[in-house]
Amino acid sequence: MIEISKDIFYVGVNDRTKHRFEALWPLPLGVSYNSYLIVDEKVALIDTVDHCHADLYLSKIKEVLGDRPIDYLVINHMEPDHSAAIRFIRQHYPDITLVGNCKTLQMVNGFYGICQGTHEVKDKDTLSLGSRSLHFYLTPMVHWPETMMTYDPLSKTLFSGDAFGCFGALNGGVVDTEINTDIYWDEMWRYYANIVGKYGSPVQKALQKLSGTDIRLICSTHGPVWKEQISRVVDLYDRASRYEGAPGVVIAYGSMYGNTEQMAEYMARVLVEKGIRDVVLHNVTKSHLSYVLRDIFKYKGLIIGSPTYTNDLFPEIESLVSKLESRDVKNRLFGYFGSYTWAGAAVRHLTAFAHKMRWEVVAEPVEMKQGFSADIMAPCRQLAENMAERLQA
Ligand code: FEO
Repeated sequence: MIEISKDIFYVGVNDRTKHRFEALWPLPLGVSYNSYLIVDEKVALIDTVDHCHADLYLSKIKEVLGDRPIDYLVINHMEPDHSAAIRFIRQHYPDITLVGNCKTLQMVNGFYGICQGTHEVKDKDTLSLGSRSLHFYLTPMVHWPETMMTYDPLSKTLFSGDAFGCFGALNGGVVDTEINTDIYWDEMWRYYANIVGKYGSPVQKALQKLSGTDIRLICSTHGPVWKEQISRVVDLYDRASRYEGAPGVVIAYGSMYGNTEQMAEYMARVLVEKGIRDVVLHNVTKSHLSYVLRDIFKYKGLIIGSPTYTNDLFPEIESLVSKLESRDVKNRLFGYFGSYTWAGAAVRHLTAFAHKMRWEVVAEPVEMKQGFSADIMAPCRQLAENMAERLQA
């Protein structure tokens, strides 16, 4: 059994089988579904796990509790990667009380048909377990409407739901003090950009609500428990939710036969010559868009290039710009370019996109007819130099 703090036990599970989180986002490093037991005069279970792992989950709970019952199941978040074992837990612990806010309990009924044995909490309500009282903070839209966080003042532990979580299964260790956390930081950016990215303003509100709280341990529902690196995790969420990119450039391009790619390569070279060290090229047909979005959240500069395809954007670029629009990504420095063989459309569509996003466009777009040639180098150079200058300003 894994005791992460006095009388607080980790009972989560790893998933190294699933290919895509939410059936959308690749999981090359797997993912963990974290759940915790607080053992006091009363016993509280914090969140559950994906139902595929229910038997293993129950055995971990029994390892800590033996035959002792669980008094409360605190539900910080209802997305089924955490809630799908609620009915299973209720079957094994019929007297357990489900604790959630008004929206949570509506979803418990809607998803699982359970409306008895519940306890509704409001923002800043408390619940005594004996030597400690849990405090509940409603943090709506991080990233669902019912999301809340639970704080234990005795151990100064924040059970944060998805917030501060990341992709990546846990490889033996749970708390950051006992593992090398290098693999998790890019996966935290990717998790943020794809799952939470639309909700920058609610994340900022949640951070403000928690700002006076003395937090020594962050127990999220995915990834490591944060103890030593809390400030780094909170800083990442703060920067990401303010859409504050680092001074680097993502060049995301589509290219069927390599002509548009030559424009991307040329601009990348100019950016580096001008002193930009972080330049990330993504061929959108090869890079899954979750990685492209991750890097767009990380860096302030973005250049998008697209061939014209059926009088429209290249399909994967169309998908990328639609994801950026739906996440309402703010404050990017933007450049764009396109190509065509007999009738251009990509640049026109990217102009409309730039207008919608209200981003600063650093240079005139570059539009290339057919193959890459010396003529097209000058405008490509101008675009890249302008981008570098704006980033360094
Ligand atoms: Fe990990 Fe929003 O569920």
